[in-house]
Amino acid sequence: MKNADHYKQLAAKYSTPNYGERAIVLARGEGCRVSDADGREYLDFLAGISVNNLGHCAPVVTKAIAEQAGTFVHCSNLYVIPTQVELAKRLVELSFADRAFFANSGAEVNEGAIKLARLYSKTHHGPGRHEIITMRNSFHGRTIATITATGQDKIQAGFEPLLEGFHYATFNDIESVRALITNKTCAIMLEPVQGEGGVTAATAEFLREVRAECDKHDLLLIYDEIQCGMGRCGRLFAHQVYGVEPDIMTVAKALGNGFPIGAMLTRERIAEVLKPGTHGSTFGGNPLACAVGLAIVNEMVDKKIPERAERIGAYFREKLAEALGHMEIVRGFRGIAMMVGIELVHPGADVVKECAARGLLINCTMGNVLRLLPPLIATEAECDKAVAILADVLKAEQQKHLKLEPAAAGAKGGAY
Ligand SMILES: Cc1ncc(COP(=O)(O)O)c(C=O)c1O
Repeated sequence: MKNADHYKQLAAKYSTPNYGERAIVLARGEGCRVSDADGREYLDFLAGISVNNLGHCAPVVTKAIAEQAGTFVHCSNLYVIPTQVELAKRLVELSFADRAFFANSGAEVNEGAIKLARLYSKTHHGPGRHEIITMRNSFHGRTIATITATGQDKIQAGFEPLLEGFHYATFNDIESVRALITNKTCAIMLEPVQGEGGVTAATAEFLREVRAECDKHDLLLIYDEIQCGMGRCGRLFAHQVYGVEPDIMTVAKALGNGFPIGAMLTRERIAEVLKPGTHGSTFGGNPLACAVGLAIVNEMVDKKIPERAERIGAYFREKLAEALGHMEIVRGFRGIAMMVGIELVHPGADVVKECAARGLLINCTMGNVLRLLPPLIATEAECDKAVAILADVLKAEQQKHLKLEPAAAGAKGGAY
């Protein structure tokens, strides 16, 4: 291993610049800790943006990769793949779904969901009924179809023309959804908890009302659980917190804990329109990816990881509220269980940088919402450490802003 500067220089010279300048070179990980190429340790409370839910190099994942790599890595979907059908069975047993399709990433399974919704509608209602309602501030991926589904101008800009037939409602506002439903609509797609959109949880009422509209008009309800699923919100799937089921659900990220895999789950009456030849993937559902996914799902169930996320999430939130709740810079807390947002009254970029300088990795969405997605195996001591770093950093940040805008800070209540 060379030093961090060496890799930064390579990145600056050889990588496409779409990720911007990256200050940290990560080289190793174990549990909730990662270390950089110079050996500096960090507490990773971002977990690959909700990928490493079982922590880094979880023994069960490492074992599944090693064993399957020595048995059978790949074959075409022209053949039945044992680990693929075992994983499909397990996901079906644990969810609303009857059938599963596998691909390699979140965007890819969302593409599959969009294609399936269109095909179902065409099969049952004829042509011309292909429009999909998604939410503003959503995030569904980086392919052309999924940036179109994503209700954020900054993600779409420059890639026009986008796909035809997407309309954007306001999250948690059922009237804005109803206003967009026409005889051309075939589906409504949303994240039960928006991740990139500021860690914003749906209300139960909103999901129930969207479900009712879908039932009324035979629209398919698609949940994107790529970030909020796989135990993070205290149930294996986030919508199980609400008890409102979809027709199609996508998961990816933590289904592989770092190994690329995505799954699209659906009901029998919808899956049946996927006649032979309508959809597919070379790598999707391959023996290795599915062995890893199967080991992860089994571990989550056996070790009650979602229940753990609910418990440790409640502890973490309580400690965050105690330490930060009174601060003028903190507007409020968001999210569910181990999907935590801290809304600030100022932009959060400097807070993220300062936390990293003190050994805590987090990030920021929508400009001012700190996003914390710790591995679900985080201990109370690790949560305490994160809270202590955040409290220090936010206190300093608050003082900095107070100096810059004393009048404005005073006007907010004069607590300091
Ligand atoms: C909610 C959601 N959907 C889709 C995606 C896209 O997944 P991928 O990057 O694996 O294509 C992401 C990635 O951040 C996501 O958070």
